[in-house]
Amino acid sequence: MPLFAQLKTPLTGEYTQPTGLFINNEWVEGVDKKTFDVINPATEEVITQVCEATEKDVDIAVAAARKAFNGPWRTSTTPLQRGVYLTKLADLLEKNLDLLAAVESLDNGKSITMARGDVTAVANCIRYYGGWADKIEGKTIDINPESFHYTRHEPVGVCGQIIPWNFPLLMLAWKVGPALATGNTVVLKSAEQTPLSALLFAGLAKEAGFPPGVLNIISGLGRIAGAAMSAHMDIDKIAFTGSTAVGRTIMKAAAASNLKKVTLELGGKSPNIVFDDADIEQAISWVNFGIYFNHGQCCCAGSRVYVQEGIYDKFIEAFKKRALANNVGDPFDENTFQGPQVSKMQYDRIMGYIEEGKKEGATVAVGGERHGDKGYFIKPTIFTDVTSKMKIMQEEIFGPVVAVAKFKTEEEVIAMGNDSAYGLAAAVHTTNITTAIRVSNELRAGTVWVNSYNLLSHALPFGGFGESGIGRELGEEALYNYTETKSVSIRLAGPIF
Ligand code: NAI
Ligand code: MG
Repeated sequence: MPLFAQLKTPLTGEYTQPTGLFINNEWVEGVDKKTFDVINPATEEVITQVCEATEKDVDIAVAAARKAFNGPWRTSTTPLQRGVYLTKLADLLEKNLDLLAAVESLDNGKSITMARGDVTAVANCIRYYGGWADKIEGKTIDINPESFHYTRHEPVGVCGQIIPWNFPLLMLAWKVGPALATGNTVVLKSAEQTPLSALLFAGLAKEAGFPPGVLNIISGLGRIAGAAMSAHMDIDKIAFTGSTAVGRTIMKAAAASNLKKVTLELGGKSPNIVFDDADIEQAISWVNFGIYFNHGQCCCAGSRVYVQEGIYDKFIEAFKKRALANNVGDPFDENTFQGPQVSKMQYDRIMGYIEEGKKEGATVAVGGERHGDKGYFIKPTIFTDVTSKMKIMQEEIFGPVVAVAKFKTEEEVIAMGNDSAYGLAAAVHTTNITTAIRVSNELRAGTVWVNSYNLLSHALPFGGFGESGIGRELGEEALYNYTETKSVSIRLAGPIF
């Protein structure tokens, strides 16, 4: 299996795509010499093949990461130098923005304009954590005059990171940034639907100067390489983003092996609440963006919309028009807002939910069917008359499908909003500041947007209540998921026991 392929994107022309496993700063084949196909979801065609990591390759990557952790990376690389590597990587990401965005569009199907936004956010995130690298500070804690105490925040060790396909580069940045800033080493597995951009990222990390073994990136299947990572006895921490079902499996594997630390960023079914007094034009824009951004493939998608009765009819009519105006089509067209779903499996799953919604008696206000006859495109879909017990109101669909219901009072909509096992995000649209704050406080969600949606920042913690996960990514908080606190206690005087 060749370790590089000459590929082409409609935006950038020919480029060299690494296809091997990135271990110890080298491109290698898997021990079992396996490969898998990479699919373009807009055309259903095979783009190339990449090497597939099995358990044996996970072992090799973990050994490389362990060796690097025990070597100069921990013993002599200064925190400032870690920051320099990350900052240099951010520069390289910016320099290669067009190529990275084009490859992201090709492999994932996201529109090129959104992909550029992703890559900018990726560079910002890496730069932000570069800034943190030399600001990981402990405390001195005064207990009595006879002793001296301080804390250190030390790296956890070898971190396993398993990411999904909806934001292939961004999820990688959210995980790699804080892990490397705090002095850990990493074995990251990309999602099998979208391995290409992570391999380009790996090449740039090498160019930025990270020593061998510090960052290892492998392509592989969840049930093989992912499962091997979760159960590995020499991985100290695992960070995962993906489905709640797999999150549970990973946690069980961690418990059954070496009790590695676990952080999970899982699914959601986030409520987006529009009050009678909202600026209706703006609210419709945010509701539309809240559900259809990234084709509904967002863990924080505003997939349950609650509209107050006074504006309900007017809102539905205007929202229908807005959804129908979203451009669905070729990801490389600059005017496209919505591309295809990432895979046949996701397409089938979403169509299954649409059929379920129809069967359960909800009304299809717009969409509800395939778009075109090639690629995994689905029309933006609005279901109205959705009751709280229907599957489409309870389960994560992860596609361009929104369930809308009417409410009367604030108290009622808070109960409706919180009627979910998830708790990732929520939004409130109102011109009354008191309503905005009161409702935001009552909603059980890790992020609440007021008069907006999906506005994430590398500096703001992100994560979920309930079954949406454990721990927070981004911001200063993410640093604590990648450090162990050590208390050092020094006796100066006093009695001897
Ligand atoms: P998934 O949870 O199976 O995949 C996410 C990652 O986990 C991938 O890298 C995959 O290889 C890995 N994985 C799968 N099985 C594993 C295992 N047994 N051990 C360790 N790693 C494993 O998600 P999938 O099947 O791609 O999508 C299914 C649903 O999950 C979606 O419809 C959506 O509802 C949800 N999802 C949520 C995401 C989020 O951002 N929170 C992202 C992707 C999917
Ligand atoms: Mg693909």
